[in-house]
Amino acid sequence: MESIGNDVVHGAFDYEELERLGMRPDTIVDFSVNSNPYGPSPLVRQALAQVPIECYPDRISLELRRAILARDLRSTQFSLDSIICGNGTAELINVIARVLVRSGDKVALLEPTFGEYRAASLLAGATVVAYRAPAEEQFALDIAVVCAWLEHERPTLFWLCNPNNPTGQWLDRQALLSLYAACRRNGTALVIDEAYWHFLVLQESFSAIELVGAMEGSPVIVLRSLTKDYALAGLRLGYAAATPEIIARIRTFLPAWNVSAFAQAAGVAALSDHRYLNVTLSNLALERQAFFQALVARGLRCIPSRTHFCLIAVDDASRVRRALLQKHFLVRDCTSFGLPHYIRVSTQLRSRWEPFVEALREIIA
Ligand SMILES: Cc1ncc(COP(=O)(O)O)c(C=O)c1O
Repeated sequence: MESIGNDVVHGAFDYEELERLGMRPDTIVDFSVNSNPYGPSPLVRQALAQVPIECYPDRISLELRRAILARDLRSTQFSLDSIICGNGTAELINVIARVLVRSGDKVALLEPTFGEYRAASLLAGATVVAYRAPAEEQFALDIAVVCAWLEHERPTLFWLCNPNNPTGQWLDRQALLSLYAACRRNGTALVIDEAYWHFLVLQESFSAIELVGAMEGSPVIVLRSLTKDYALAGLRLGYAAATPEIIARIRTFLPAWNVSAFAQAAGVAALSDHRYLNVTLSNLALERQAFFQALVARGLRCIPSRTHFCLIAVDDASRVRRALLQKHFLVRDCTSFGLPHYIRVSTQLRSRWEPFVEALREIIA
């Protein structure tokens, strides 16, 4: 039987491991998390200093949701009751599975992908079916084949990560519309996780947000994390956009005060500083190009990616991760994605990636 506890493997520091190895976290350069390496806007720390910590936070994150509508969703006609905030999108993923799935339902995934979808679905009592993108095709998907698979499986819920973690693959508007049509024919709910949408290179005007409310009968939910692009991982913040009816159902499953006063204040401040986001993401796009080129120039086999992270083929991901950690570099061993011959690396600043590329080349040579 598949394990249903939440033992999903993630990137970032494993503090227990570092303690065992006698290594301090601040001596390690982390390529395993996919956050904006420039860090949060300076306005965030200023806002945090003003948070009245003796008061309970706003239970419905009113100001924050207004800021999301005004900034991230400004091209939509959404109302406030079309969005809900969570303690990271990880919390929303967990709750959405419980809202949409009943015990024994079938849930579909395209793997390799973010591990929380499977874990949340299993915890909700679902049976999980997965279509695996072929490594030999560099994880490119044949959408007609995926649609036929969906029609065959007829799942209750289909999780899609776009652009995908860990492959960096982007499914364009046409592909999304085909998958959406297949879901509609089968009455399948569609959840699209756009945690990395802002990191797309080149940026896209299309987002699955367009599909919210368009599907009668079966819901479409779009997830956006604010912990990656706005660099707020420690504060935990994300939101879901869907029809007011679905949002109201999600709300009933969330604990009161699920988004802390710090997270709300940080989100409002970060969203207000759109110049900072634009500048850091444009710089990151240039840095990413230089980083990926340097990896390829050293003979490393990188999988083409539309985001700031990419997969690199190695002989043994666990060995490479361990060897790099000895040199104070942390990468994501992709064994838990079913990819024991790949690591995932995220773009860091040049002063950090230059020594990393040399260390990786030596370890792999
Ligand atoms: C695709 C994807 N979705 C969601 C999350 C969770 O993000 P959050 O920090 O918003 O909980 C992650 C984190 O790695 C992710 O990769």
